[in-house]
Amino acid sequence: MDNWDTLYDVCKKCARCPLWETRTNVVIGRGNKEADIMFIGEGPGFHEDQQGLPFVGPAGQLLDKMLLAINMSEENVYIANIVKCRPPGNRDPKPEEQAKCMDYLRYQLTLVRPKIIVALGRIAANAIIAGGENPYGEEFRITKHRGIWFERKGIQIMATYHPSALLRDETKKRPAWEDFKSIVNKL
Ligand code: URA
Repeated sequence: MDNWDTLYDVCKKCARCPLWETRTNVVIGRGNKEADIMFIGEGPGFHEDQQGLPFVGPAGQLLDKMLLAINMSEENVYIANIVKCRPPGNRDPKPEEQAKCMDYLRYQLTLVRPKIIVALGRIAANAIIAGGENPYGEEFRITKHRGIWFERKGIQIMATYHPSALLRDETKKRPAWEDFKSIVNKL
C-alpha cells in the first residue's frame, strides 16, 4: 500500500464532518499525480459525486477546454477540491467542513509537490490563500485579486474565476483566459 492508497482508504472511511452522510462517492482527485500544476476547486457537485472524480460536469468540461487551449490536459495537471464530499444541493462548503477536510488536501499537496497552484473561485482562494501570509489581507476578493501571483513556501500561487462563474457570466471569460495564459508564462 503506498501513500496514495492510504489517502484513498482514509478518505473513503471519513466521517469527520456531516457531508459523509449524503455522499455517493468521496472525490479525491484526477490527473497526473506528479504534475507541476495543481488546480483546486471548492467541492464536488452532482456529477462528481456520482463518478467519484472532480470537475467532470459542465464546469469541468469548460476547465478541460481551457486547459486544452493552453496545450494541457489531465496528463500535465492534477485537479482536486477543498472538500472531498458533495455539499447537499451544491451549497458552499461550511468553514468547519473545509477545516475538517484541509488535512487531506495538505497531504495531497505533499504527495504531488506542485510548483504552481491555481485556486478556482472564491471559496478555494480563501481557503488556500487568505489567512496565512499573503499580500491580500484577510479576505481574498476574486474580482480584485484574481490573476495576481505570489509565492508561498516556494510554490507560485494564483486564483482565477471558478469555471461555473464563467458559465453564468460570459464577461468573466476574457479575464479568466488572461489568467490561464499567465500560467503558461509562469511555467
Ligand atoms: N466545482 C468544484 O468546485 N469542484 C468540482 O469538482 C466540480 C465543480
